[in-house]
Amino acid sequence: MNSDPRFPTVRMRRLRSHPAIRSLLCRNRLHPANLILPLFVCPGEGVQQPIDAMPGQQQLSIDMLVEQARECQQLGLGGIILFGIPEHKDPRGSDALSDQGIVQQALRAVKAEVPQLLVISDVCFCEYTDHGHCGLLHEQAGGSTDVDNDATLALLAEQALSHAQAGADMLAPSGMMDGMVGAIRQRLDAEGFSQLPIMSYAAKYASAFYGPFREAAQCSPQFGDRRSYQMDPAAAADQALREVELDLAEGADIIMVKPALPYLDILCRLQQQFPGVPMAAYNVSGEYSMVQAAAEKGWIDGESVCHESLLAIHRAGADMILTYWALDVARWYRAQQS
Ligand code: PBG
Repeated sequence: MNSDPRFPTVRMRRLRSHPAIRSLLCRNRLHPANLILPLFVCPGEGVQQPIDAMPGQQQLSIDMLVEQARECQQLGLGGIILFGIPEHKDPRGSDALSDQGIVQQALRAVKAEVPQLLVISDVCFCEYTDHGHCGLLHEQAGGSTDVDNDATLALLAEQALSHAQAGADMLAPSGMMDGMVGAIRQRLDAEGFSQLPIMSYAAKYASAFYGPFREAAQCSPQFGDRRSYQMDPAAAADQALREVELDLAEGADIIMVKPALPYLDILCRLQQQFPGVPMAAYNVSGEYSMVQAAAEKGWIDGESVCHESLLAIHRAGADMILTYWALDVARWYRAQQS
C-alpha cells in the first residue's frame, strides 16, 4: 500500500500521457542553430577521405569543404569549426602561421562562397607540429622536454591574427596554454579586430575520448602525452572554476567544457557559478564514435542515443554544442518540419 498521503491526489503520470502535454512541458529542445559542426580540411582537390575511427566523418579538400559548408548554411546550423591537416609539418608548426596555410585558404574559400555561415577556427599547434604537441618544445632544467608556455603564446597570437585576416568569424584557442586568451585578445585588439569573439576551450581535460580525433587530424603526440597542459580528470572539479575565471578575465567571450558527456558535472557547476556567461560543450570524437560503432552493430538505436546525449549536454547548461552529429540532427529536424 502507498502510505504517502499525497497519493492519489497527486499523480505525476497525469502530465505524461498526452504527447502534446509532454511537448508543452519540454524545456530542452535541440535546434540546429545551437549546433556547431567540426570539419577537417586537407590538401588536394575532390578529396573526401573517410575517417576510419569516425564513421560518417571525412577529411575534405577545400572544394568539398565549401560544398559541405553550403549544406550547413542551408540547414541552419549554428556554424562550423575548422581543423587543418597541412601538407607539411615541422617543429614550429609553420603552416599554422602562413597566409597560405591550409586553414587560412579554407577560411577565405568558405567566407567567399558561403558568407552567411559562421566559421570558427581552432587555434592550436598540434595539427601542425611534427612532434604533435600543442606548442613549441623546450628542454626543462631536469632534462625533460615540455611545451614552452610563454614562447607558444607569441605563436598563438600570430596564428590567431592570421586566421582573423583570412576571415574567421570567431577564434577558438584549444591548447590550454596559460595566458593564451589574453595574448590572443591583445594582439587582435592591436590589429583592429576588437570585435572578433573568442571561444576559449577553458576547461579541457586530458581525455582518452580524443582518440579518434587524433587519427582524423593526424595529431597524436609523438612522445609523452598532454597532461602537462590539459586538465587532470581526477583533479577537484573546482579547478575548472579557476580556469574559467582566468579566461574570462583575459577576455574570453564564450567558455567551453570538453569532453561533454563525462563532464556534465563540470558544465552544470559552471553554469551555476557563472550565470550569463555563454557556454559551449564539445561532444568529442570518442563520444561520437562509441555510439556510431554500437549503432552499426545494431546494439543501440544511434539516432535516439544521439538525441538523448545532446539533450543531456544542453540540459546540463550548454548553450551550444560542438558535435559531429550536427548535420544529422539538422537533416532530421528538416525532415520533421516538412
Ligand atoms: C587540439 C584539439 C583536440 C581536439 C580538438 N582540438 C585534440 C587533443 O587535444 O588532443 C579533440 C576533439 C575531438 O576529440 O573530437 N587542437
